[in-house]
Amino acid sequence: MSEVLMRVEGLKTYFYTARGIVKAVDNVSFTLNRGEVLGLAGESGCGKSTTAYSIIRLVPPPGRIVGGRIVFEGQDILKMSSEEYRRKIRWKKISMIFQGAMNALNPVLSIGDQMAEVFMIHKGMSKKEALEESAKLLSMVGIDPKRLRSYPHELSGGMKQRVMIAMALALNPPLVIADEPTTALDVVVQAQVMNVLKKLQKEYKVSIILITHDLSLIAEIADKVAIMYAGKIVEFGTAEHIYLNPQHPYTRGLLASIPRIRGEIKKLEWIPGIPPDLVAPPRGCRFHPRCKYKFEPCDKEEPPMVEVEPGHYVACWLYAKR
Ligand SMILES: Nc1ncnc2c1ncn2[C@@H]1O[C@H](COP(=O)(O)OP(=O)(O)OP(=O)(O)O)[C@@H](O)[C@H]1O
Ligand SMILES: [Mg+2]
Repeated sequence: MSEVLMRVEGLKTYFYTARGIVKAVDNVSFTLNRGEVLGLAGESGCGKSTTAYSIIRLVPPPGRIVGGRIVFEGQDILKMSSEEYRRKIRWKKISMIFQGAMNALNPVLSIGDQMAEVFMIHKGMSKKEALEESAKLLSMVGIDPKRLRSYPHELSGGMKQRVMIAMALALNPPLVIADEPTTALDVVVQAQVMNVLKKLQKEYKVSIILITHDLSLIAEIADKVAIMYAGKIVEFGTAEHIYLNPQHPYTRGLLASIPRIRGEIKKLEWIPGIPPDLVAPPRGCRFHPRCKYKFEPCDKEEPPMVEVEPGHYVACWLYAKR
């Protein structure tokens, strides 16, 4: 039996801007099992990073978590004070590789100094012990420990990103959130970074939430996949469900826009239009203005999540009873 690590229930995170309330994450629910990789995919601006920031409790102002629960190892981490969360959860239990993280390395500190700091602050190690631990971590992600003396500008983008992965894993957390960990990298380096993630996931049985707009990246590593559109999860299932039997018209559109190397050459399909403004999203199903299957209930009522086969959920009126 798989053990539940985290249950996100009805999460709502809104940004209170001068333009109005941006409902970036609007009633998102999913379950993550221990040791499992969940891919979170969807177009730019659909709320993927905001979901991640909510879990690590670093939603930037003017954003606020306004509803829902995040039950992690049996405890609602949204009920904790920020001080308690910082002391007990962040980095120790849940760590995050931020979008564009490789540029977040401090340019005036050596890699070793930056890595060692994690162990000195959180584990009370001496500098010498901390550097030894950092050396082990670096080799784990395939970088020569001699590089501890290097400065960020002396490393390639892929190496910097692997340093960030190593730092996220430093305290052996059961959950790592990786937000677009390979987006700025070329495809060869992208593959290297993905292989490092895959290897670490196998060795340490860590759960990973892999966030990307690139569904082909998720296919390589994910056990489960959640498809997000305009602040909501529209389809959730195992990787087999999503890749072999996608149901939501949006998921099908996303998959059809992945170029195929093998097989017959098809015209690239794409989804017309752009995602809605989350200050005033469309009524009913938020995808209906772009959907070629839309019919009478779609612009009036929000479709409920329906389990179309065991463990495979879809929020679309094509599958729901009214
Ligand atoms: N600090 C902020 N202030 C106001 N609105 C914000 C802020 N951060 C994000 N948003 C809005 O919240 C929505 C979701 O943004 P988010 O960054 O979570 O999307 P994303 O799915 O991660 O996109 P991408 O693929 O581009 O990284 C967007 O409409 C965005 O404009
Ligand atoms: Mg993002």
